[in-house]
Amino acid sequence: MAKRYLIANWKMNLPPEGVESYLANVGGADPRDVTLVVAPPFPYLKHVSGCGEGMCVAAQNCSDHESGAFTGEVAPSMLRDCGADYVILGHSERRNLFSETDALIARKLSLAISKGLKPVLCIGEDLRVREADQVARFLADQIKATAVPELETAEEVILAYEPIWAIGTGRNASGAMVAETILDIRHALERFWPAKFAQTSIIYGGSVTPDNTPDLVEKGTIDGFLVGGASLDSRKFLAIHAGLR
Ligand code: PGA
Repeated sequence: MAKRYLIANWKMNLPPEGVESYLANVGGADPRDVTLVVAPPFPYLKHVSGCGEGMCVAAQNCSDHESGAFTGEVAPSMLRDCGADYVILGHSERRNLFSETDALIARKLSLAISKGLKPVLCIGEDLRVREADQVARFLADQIKATAVPELETAEEVILAYEPIWAIGTGRNASGAMVAETILDIRHALERFWPAKFAQTSIIYGGSVTPDNTPDLVEKGTIDGFLVGGASLDSRKFLAIHAGLR
């Protein structure tokens, strides 16, 4: 049985209520069988890992190099030093705004795993692919492109299905659509990541709120959520957690 996760992706934001109150509220919750993870911007990693009792910490990105002349980059081992347990890789904002390719993401994945970071690998189609009915093939290609040998040794692997058209748009996929897509993803994992396909947790992201959580979890195929906008408000984040049964 795959583990369940609820991940707060703050992106380049801080919670308006303040980092300390946010962490006190979320850290005070009984996580039940869900691993709670907070992904702050790089400079806050150490702080969040220091006060975030009951929570794990994720970085939002990492370099594909371990050290050297790479101005502005941060190596996986440095993220570990700052308390990061997980790293989000291949987020569509990295792919689209920073031109990250599957090949670069695969290199980051290999290095991150080899340095002890647990990857949260994001995949997802845009509206053009969805409307052309090419979703299964598109996601299978993304999974195939990241089938690195290090996956076999990874302690935990999380795959975040995030349809691009649903991210930050207020337009979320329906529970039925996500359940169908997760089935396609499981088939692709079985083909391309055979060593990991059964234990890989598949979570959903894209305009998740307390209101649409019941519909998304109804089919029972989702192992958790990667939440952006709604994760900046600890009450909303905890309400999503309460709905994740
Ligand atoms: P959103 O972001 O919840 O604001 O749509 C999700 C994400 O980008 O991970």
